[in-house]
Amino acid sequence: MRSPRADRPTRVLVLDHTGELGGAELALVRLCQALGPEVDVRVLLFSDGPLVGRLRGVGVPTEVLALDRRTASTSRESVGRASLSQLVSLLRLVPFGWALARRVRALRPDVVHTTSLKADLLGVVPARCAGSTLVWHVHDRIADDYLPPRVARVFRWAASRFPDEVIVNSEATASTLPVGTTVAYPGFGPEQVLAGPRSPRPAERRGPVVGMVGRISPTKGQLELVRAARAVLDRYPDAAFRIVGEPSFGAEQYADEVREEASRLGVADHVTWVGFVADTSAELDALDVCVHASPVPEPFGQVVVEAMIREVPVVATRAGGVVEILAVPEGEPELGLLVEPGDAASLAQGVLAVLDAPDEARRRAARAAIVARRRYSAGRTAEVVSGVWSRAGRAR
Ligand code: GLC
Repeated sequence: MRSPRADRPTRVLVLDHTGELGGAELALVRLCQALGPEVDVRVLLFSDGPLVGRLRGVGVPTEVLALDRRTASTSRESVGRASLSQLVSLLRLVPFGWALARRVRALRPDVVHTTSLKADLLGVVPARCAGSTLVWHVHDRIADDYLPPRVARVFRWAASRFPDEVIVNSEATASTLPVGTTVAYPGFGPEQVLAGPRSPRPAERRGPVVGMVGRISPTKGQLELVRAARAVLDRYPDAAFRIVGEPSFGAEQYADEVREEASRLGVADHVTWVGFVADTSAELDALDVCVHASPVPEPFGQVVVEAMIREVPVVATRAGGVVEILAVPEGEPELGLLVEPGDAASLAQGVLAVLDAPDEARRRAARAAIVARRRYSAGRTAEVVSGVWSRAGRAR
């Protein structure tokens, strides 16, 4: 087995199944950007997409070894269903696995670092063949309320057998795995920090602006937001709601459901569907309230940190990693408002509490910015992750 040598940087090969810009992928770009010279990192993706340019833009050599598109884009939800087409997809994996193993061997990394569930599993054999340490970086809660139960079961079993080390994005994710893990909170990049005062609100905006930033998916809770919009509009008839993001794999139907619900409740004219935005800072700055409405516990909730560092008041559901992000020692003032998951009335109350007391919300957001800048920098994430790489290498 290969172990990193003191006279050269540790060679790390990151594997991810997607070239799209999901939360884990954005976290990867910021992590790579923050790594020091003791690490020589390169990335191999199983499908092309905007992530390739992002990684190359921060100086990370990135290549694509294409997995059959249908397999690469299988949603987590559909993986649990056995079908003939799934079997065919599995068979298609064989030549891909072979090509991947050959490429990993040629690159001779000290560490193979996998950052998505598919890459975690597909990375096992290639890492073994290349004699590399295998580190899984888990960004999903491996729980039955988040994944199809069968997938969660297989994954928990694999986690206790294959990786040498497991890194997770929160204690919430750690608690869903049967093995010891290291928590590396995803950090924000320096370019995301508010450099000066927040830009003034556009003059044409009369009422308050409430928004959500993230993939459109039942696990994110856009439906709860439009339901909460009704109660908010009853008190603030000029309020506007911005939904930033696009539907994740297979969630188009959910997006339609949210639109229909908005029409049914008579709030559709107040909702703007912004679509995907690569740099969300300007969107966050325009908000009076950033809502994080996940009805099921979120593994981490990066956007909450992004809102905090830009001093945007946060209203979030009390579950998963978000509770850790907003945690304060007992007796200290809160950093954001927590509401009940899956409960539109509670969400509306949280939003109204911010809008009714804007000065208090601003003070809370200013405190949150100080805490978030201290706790969640990408530099800190890089320190923790590099520490795991060198420890795992030494152990080998
Ligand atoms: C995934 C999780 C999200 C987390 C991100 C970065 O996208 O769903 O909660 O913030 O990864 O770890």
